[in-house]
Amino acid sequence: MKTLTITRPDDWHIHVRNGAVLKTVLPHTARQFARAIIMPNLKPPVTTVEQALTYRKEILQAVPAGIDFIPLMTLYLTATTKISEIKKAAESDQIYAFKLYPAGATTNSDSGIANISAIYPLLAELEKFDIPLLIHGETTDIDCDIFDRERVFIDTILTDIARNFPNLRIVLEHVTTNEAVQFVYASGDNIAATITPQHLLYNRNALLSGGIRPHYYCLPIIKREKHRLALVQAATSGNPKFFLGTDSAPHITSLKETSCGCAGCYSAYTALELYAEVFEQAGSLNKLEGFASFYGADFYRLPRNSGTVTLEKITWRIPLTFGKNDNTITPIKAGEELSWKMQ
Ligand code: DOR
Ligand code: ZN
Repeated sequence: MKTLTITRPDDWHIHVRNGAVLKTVLPHTARQFARAIIMPNLKPPVTTVEQALTYRKEILQAVPAGIDFIPLMTLYLTATTKISEIKKAAESDQIYAFKLYPAGATTNSDSGIANISAIYPLLAELEKFDIPLLIHGETTDIDCDIFDRERVFIDTILTDIARNFPNLRIVLEHVTTNEAVQFVYASGDNIAATITPQHLLYNRNALLSGGIRPHYYCLPIIKREKHRLALVQAATSGNPKFFLGTDSAPHITSLKETSCGCAGCYSAYTALELYAEVFEQAGSLNKLEGFASFYGADFYRLPRNSGTVTLEKITWRIPLTFGKNDNTITPIKAGEELSWKMQ
């Protein structure tokens, strides 16, 4: 049987929520990944070190017995974030980054930043303390076409941030366009990007052609084929600026399959297998380990994992749902076949 063994990977961008949903989804991530960068967009958002440490404990309680999994916590940057909190985060060995959401850009981003140049003093502190800034890179100008929002954010906001803070470590999260890929390539080593499985596997036809398919709706929205191809090229290039971040974002099925469905694709159960499909199709399976297991750790200046995971080449079917009763979650590609399976 054909198998692929790689160093244990990490997920550098995930939403695990809290309460009942956390209990459903966290075991999926802990089975696949040694560590994960935990997004702070809870209701209310995780804005202080103290809140993050409480949330971290809740996450650890959801890790199945016998599995090693380390949540890497982040704080939600707001216009009222105190410089003293940034200092506290820098001194904590559990906080790994701050997340910048433009206000209104996505799920639970109401507490995000409305005027980004107004928080430049906070970015200066992040740069000074060398804490990575993770950016949801979309303009919130409602007149801007939703398919252009990432490109416009790069042109109008990100370029300026990068120019003003040349030593700030930035991860442009879940890149979706050729323009984002080119921006990252052209930047210094302090700027990297995560790429999700859905943006590597699908173009916007998967979302909108032959019927509207809510489980492929996420933000930034899936783009045209030329953008998907640019993302596949970047992910499989072996360039360490691009690494794995699923952006797995569970919403209960009834909130996805409705007249105004939530943004977010649930991929945690099948994450590594989905990436393996992409890398195999691109003829670059030998580049999967760097993308999944090395470059993110290197960027965050953490040790690479010891231990390995093995994928088998075998056809299997993704479950239709996870969780119980009113709390079911429908995964991306539900009920469809995959050709790799984690042992
Ligand atoms: O599709 C998304 N879902 N994009 C985000 O930026 C947030 C996420 C969520 O939290 O549901
Ligand atoms: Zn996200």
